[in-house]
Amino acid sequence: MKTGVITVSDRASKGLYDDLGGPALKQAAIGYGWEVVDETLAADEIREIQRAVRRQAAMGCALILTTGGTGVALRDVTPEAVREIAVRELPGFGEVMRMESMKITANAILSRCLAVVVDRSLVICLPGKPAGAVECLGFVSGAIPHCVEVLQEIPTSC
Ligand code: MTE
Repeated sequence: MKTGVITVSDRASKGLYDDLGGPALKQAAIGYGWEVVDETLAADEIREIQRAVRRQAAMGCALILTTGGTGVALRDVTPEAVREIAVRELPGFGEVMRMESMKITANAILSRCLAVVVDRSLVICLPGKPAGAVECLGFVSGAIPHCVEVLQEIPTSC
């Protein structure tokens, strides 16, 4: 499954600190057997995030994973950016990620992590903390292959 990874962070995109979330997500994706074909950085700017998502969708990434920008800080705009270009939202992803993460940290209630469909791509927006992003991906990973098959119109058994 062609996968793109986007790190959303003002500081990482300016090179002020190392991007740890993107590489952590890439490793997790490889562990699930997915092929990571593109990794990119975007500042916490709606247009920049949208450009990165659209570019990976146009490249044929069936799955796009973002990390960062889902919190409560006023600069956090990832949900607003992806909702604006989405054909639909898949609320179950955000619900499960928050419910499961609450067992790990009470701060998970602050997370606005979500999943949407852009063109034919499944876009999953994960927390900025690398461990949180990898954990949240794990909570929903079981549903990803079927979701991608449906969006890519690959025949499925259910
Ligand atoms: N979810 C999991 N599974 N594990 C975590 O450590 N950290 C959280 C949370 N979700 C965390 C998590 C923290 S510290 C915050 S503040 C919120 O998500 C929002 O994260 P974000 O601002 O990085 O998107």
